[in-house]
Amino acid sequence: MSKHSTIRRITVPEIRTRKGGEPVVCLAAYTAPMARFVDPYVDITLVGDSAANAIHGLDTTIGMSLDHMIMHGQAVMRGSERALIVMDMPFGTYEESPQVAFRNACRLMRETGAAAVKLEGGVNMKDTIAFLTERGIPVMAHIGLMPQSVQVTGGYKITGRSKSEWPSLEADARAVEEAGAFSVVLEGIAEPLAAKLTADLNIPTIGIGASAACDGQILVVDDLLGMSEWVPKFVKKYADLAGIVDGAVKSWAEDVKARKFPADENTYPMRDEE
Ligand code: KIV
Repeated sequence: MSKHSTIRRITVPEIRTRKGGEPVVCLAAYTAPMARFVDPYVDITLVGDSAANAIHGLDTTIGMSLDHMIMHGQAVMRGSERALIVMDMPFGTYEESPQVAFRNACRLMRETGAAAVKLEGGVNMKDTIAFLTERGIPVMAHIGLMPQSVQVTGGYKITGRSKSEWPSLEADARAVEEAGAFSVVLEGIAEPLAAKLTADLNIPTIGIGASAACDGQILVVDDLLGMSEWVPKFVKKYADLAGIVDGAVKSWAEDVKARKFPADENTYPMRDEE
């Protein structure tokens, strides 16, 4: 039996059918082991450019390159077998023109095997999203707080608290749907507007800091596991992995200093054969 017939991942059309139904569960992850841990429970694993902060110790996502993303995408594909894998398009790889976006999206899909891409932008990205979707590239859109624009906006600010901001966000949401996006991330959007966008759109809305009113939710897996130095207020920590790692490394360091080896296996078996 071919690999093709034994591995069946969740598909883009299946995600579309979840509009208004069972919530879509998504996590951003970047490595093969983490992809393996989350795979049984998520519908979508996003290879997010938030790897910049979570993995590479950068302050913003602007430093991520296409090659970085491809490496993370290949690792996540190796670790997972069930989830739909979506690749974030990093800063500078899609804004210039639909043609440049197409070329780079092709690299992301061809070199990783992922099924879709995500890019930030609304009305300004309408033509690009249409260009990609008309040529076989499923696109998840991302509106509201857009981390790649942080140098323009001056910070990570929630949007839609004031009704005066609603028309432009509504226009963004309509534009990405009309362009053919199969879903849209709503990041940092006040609840009443997130609820309205979710009611108005025919594609699933995936919220992050945008309330429970969305059709699904996404988080950075490191944040919910308590591995990040800083997490946004809306994140509930489900574990304290930082504390567990700290305790384990501290114990190991103490054992080493005391010349205490917990087990005889602290030598390679090949020693016996020498
Ligand atoms: O890069 C990322 O992880 C994201 C999600 C958090 C939406 O864009």
